[in-house]
Amino acid sequence: MIKIAPSILSADFGRLGEQLRMVEEAGAHMIHVDVMDGHFVPNLTYGPLIVKTCKSITSLPLDVHLMIANAEERLDAYLDAGADYVSIHVEAVKHLQRALAYIREAGARAGVALNPATSLDTIRWITEDLDFILVMSVNPGFEAQTFLPNSLERISTVREMLTRHGAPTEIEVDGGVGPQNTKELVEAGATLLVAGSAIFKSPDPATTIQEMKAAADAALK
Ligand code: DX5
Ligand code: ZN
Repeated sequence: MIKIAPSILSADFGRLGEQLRMVEEAGAHMIHVDVMDGHFVPNLTYGPLIVKTCKSITSLPLDVHLMIANAEERLDAYLDAGADYVSIHVEAVKHLQRALAYIREAGARAGVALNPATSLDTIRWITEDLDFILVMSVNPGFEAQTFLPNSLERISTVREMLTRHGAPTEIEVDGGVGPQNTKELVEAGATLLVAGSAIFKSPDPATTIQEMKAAADAALK
């Protein structure tokens, strides 16, 4: 099944509860929470308190994307706050395999986030330690950036690697995703689609989510 994960980075924080309930009712499968520290990426957003707040509002799984330096030192805070999926960037941890195992031991799903220029070889020896791979289709830090077209080939290469290893790993794509490119992303092998501005800045977010689901279905036919 293809999952749609609205990113609250583009939500109206004055009405966060309302916005979360709206996408849940519209059929979203999980909520993507972008944690930025103003250091690993040039933007600063929110931390464990907002993860905990989301947890108290929605029953959807929380997909916490950590764009923070020294991520392994902060894992407990996000796991305790209720993160269901946790992704860490290759460049932001010292011992990647150990950090992934730690996330799994805590009962959450462990993912690696790959920046547009990160070598895909970094995941070659850890496919069994991963529940999902987050292929960034923009440089992390901001909403509403332009989708980088090479991301399609990166997704299909990751899918081939996973098929070779027989790993049932999910492939998440994040950045510039919306109804316009859902079909080709799913055809390339993506199973988890993050969309911030495409959903929350849409005049009709529920319809946008439905359009993405329909495009994903069309790709799987
Ligand atoms: C970017 C974040 C994304 C962001 C995507 O660094 O990781 O999750 O919210 O925003 P859109 O979908 O608007 O490109
Ligand atoms: Zn993200």
